[in-house]
Amino acid sequence: MPSIRKLNSDDFNYLLTIETESFSSGYSPYFIKMIPILFGNTSYIAIKGHSPQGYVATALQQGSRRAWILSLAVRPKYRQLGLGKALLERGLQGLAAAGAREVFLSVAPDNRGAILLYEKMGFSCSQEVSGYFGPGEDRLIMKKDLI
Ligand SMILES: CC(C)(COP(=O)(O)OP(=O)(O)OC[C@H]1O[C@@H](n2cnc3c(N)ncnc32)[C@H](O)[C@@H]1OP(=O)(O)O)[C@@H](O)C(=O)NCCC(=O)NCCS
Repeated sequence: MPSIRKLNSDDFNYLLTIETESFSSGYSPYFIKMIPILFGNTSYIAIKGHSPQGYVATALQQGSRRAWILSLAVRPKYRQLGLGKALLERGLQGLAAAGAREVFLSVAPDNRGAILLYEKMGFSCSQEVSGYFGPGEDRLIMKKDLI
């Protein structure tokens, strides 16, 4: 099993590596730097072997009990080992403890592996939005109610 802990600012280089290996056009270094600062209370990193191999960033929407999964990524070499599921579980626990009652995320409609993982974790598709992130960037919005 991976060990999972909250993110901190010293994790920047690890986050950059995970993000770069996982997305062709992912978050900017600026935003990655901000994740532990702004969302560190509900964001986590998974350590397998000697170093972090995946992370989940989540955030509570201001003034509401609605929350978002901002990012979930595992380095390719460490996929299919349960890290993604463990990170998502921990992120959802953190959000519930912070007062979230419903959690949303966006995912590319062709990202079959991620969609299967989210469905397995109790998310269901709430809508499909064409051009959600601009032309050609359609996304499924998925939702899970927290008890
Ligand atoms: C999505 C992602 C985080 C999954 O991480 P992971 O550590 O490989 O996931 P897990 O090993 O915990 O998988 C848990 C379950 O998810 C499903 N799953 C995950 N990846 C899958 C794949 N490529 N194909 C089919 N099912 C998959 C399976 O149901 C799996 O359960 P199983 O092991 O019992 O079959 C990882 O593939 C990734 O980083 N992808 C690139 C970034 C990305 O697309 N993030 C999501 C953006 S919305």
